[in-house]
Amino acid sequence: MAQPICIAVVGSGYVGLVSAACFAELGHRVICVDNDEAKVRLLKDGGLPIHEEYLPEMLGRLRQESIEFTTDLHEATRQADAVFIAVGTPQSDNGDADLSYVDAVASAIARSIDNYKVIVEKSTVPVYTNEWITRTLERNGASRDTFDVVSNPEFLREGTAVTDFLHPNRIVIGVENERAAHLLRQIYEPLTSGAYYDRPSAVPGSRSADNPPPLLQMSTRAAELTKHATNAFLAMKISFINAVANICDAAGVNVEEVARGVGMDDRIGPRFLRAGIGYGGSCFPKDVAAFRWVAEQLGHHFDLLAEVERINADQKKLFFRKIRSALWTLRGKRLAVLGLAFKGGTDDIRESPAIEIVRMLLKEGCSVTLFDPAAMERTKEVLEPGPRVKYVSDMYEAATDAHAVLVLSDWQEFAAIDLDRLREALRHPIVIDGRNLFDPEVMSGKGFTYFSVGRPSLATGVKAVKL
Ligand code: UGA
Repeated sequence: MAQPICIAVVGSGYVGLVSAACFAELGHRVICVDNDEAKVRLLKDGGLPIHEEYLPEMLGRLRQESIEFTTDLHEATRQADAVFIAVGTPQSDNGDADLSYVDAVASAIARSIDNYKVIVEKSTVPVYTNEWITRTLERNGASRDTFDVVSNPEFLREGTAVTDFLHPNRIVIGVENERAAHLLRQIYEPLTSGAYYDRPSAVPGSRSADNPPPLLQMSTRAAELTKHATNAFLAMKISFINAVANICDAAGVNVEEVARGVGMDDRIGPRFLRAGIGYGGSCFPKDVAAFRWVAEQLGHHFDLLAEVERINADQKKLFFRKIRSALWTLRGKRLAVLGLAFKGGTDDIRESPAIEIVRMLLKEGCSVTLFDPAAMERTKEVLEPGPRVKYVSDMYEAATDAHAVLVLSDWQEFAAIDLDRLREALRHPIVIDGRNLFDPEVMSGKGFTYFSVGRPSLATGVKAVKL
């Protein structure tokens, strides 16, 4: 690598912490800044606030050498060549992104700039944020020739964040001048040259020295819109297949056969066509709403996105109806719930469809026994344990004497469950699967009455009754 660069990353959430660790992994010197003192202390002491593959080993290795954690934004800015802003952009009441954290960080950075810096927006932000950050820096005293603001959206997924960062489909940089573009290209050079993938310690993934990721350079507004359009498109793909799944349900067709047939058209592609109980998490719901709001502000009604949201909301209600039609009455029923995270492989429960469905069940008078491999502590903060809400430490304990099992997140552990043991533990052998983790024929062969999303149920014993 030509020259290690000193990078400050502001915000140590998913995007900030993973980016900081990966920049250090690429050989740069990184200062990770957060104003949450407890979090910084935890990170300094070797702890981790998030559950992410490869991150513990990577930070264990790099903490001593090339990454440090601090609350001192002023000092970090002074030392850095590039300052990445990776703070939260939560949804505000009317759907747009609340950019007050970005504003506060930009104002603070402005007061610390003493020589040329590249300020990089990494958080997901609406188009024109770049211009707003520039204006904010100037208003707070930074001279225009001491900085450039660029946009470098991140496309990592929770659960596979490190691999996604180091083996990206593409690296997008939105930049208006060559000086800033040069620095960004240097930062990503170990990836774009392929040199990183030749290292014996490289995190494995789909990229290699012969097949390094492309770096796409575009205008700052184009980069901002690329991020919103990508997330909105992926959410649309999920809602589309969920709508098709509902038609498949009515027509007695298996949606997976249809998704396979559709996805093999390489103009469409097979990914993000898994039907289920809808998308959740801290990104898609927020970003679809924010993109719709942005369009509205620019004079366009992006009603397609409203429909994407409607289908997503309905998907949970339809699944709830499925539970009701499998069990008839709900009051007093005891249900085992496998999965609370918004998807498998993470402890994140933000906008989790699973939590919403559990709340609906509680409202109807059910008791629930909850199990998730990683998300139970977080769930306890929003669903207190009590006489009707129990948390247990394994899948079979959750199923013991339950009227049915609900599968609500796609953890691999659940797909590998011992079905004989599960059937023996249950009071009635009923599985209602919101993530299509099992094969209907196998389930039927094992004596289960099995319901999933967009696939005909092969009932044994208890039959579903249409309401
Ligand atoms: C998403 C994007 O995939 C990332 O590219 C992006 O960087 C990130 O948002 C972000 O903007 O920060 P993430 O929210 O971690 O990543 O999770 P995904 O794997 O995309 O899943 C989102 C939701 O869609 C989950 O609830 C998942 O269960 C659901 N999903 C996904 C489906 O229901 N079906 C599918 O086929 C795929």
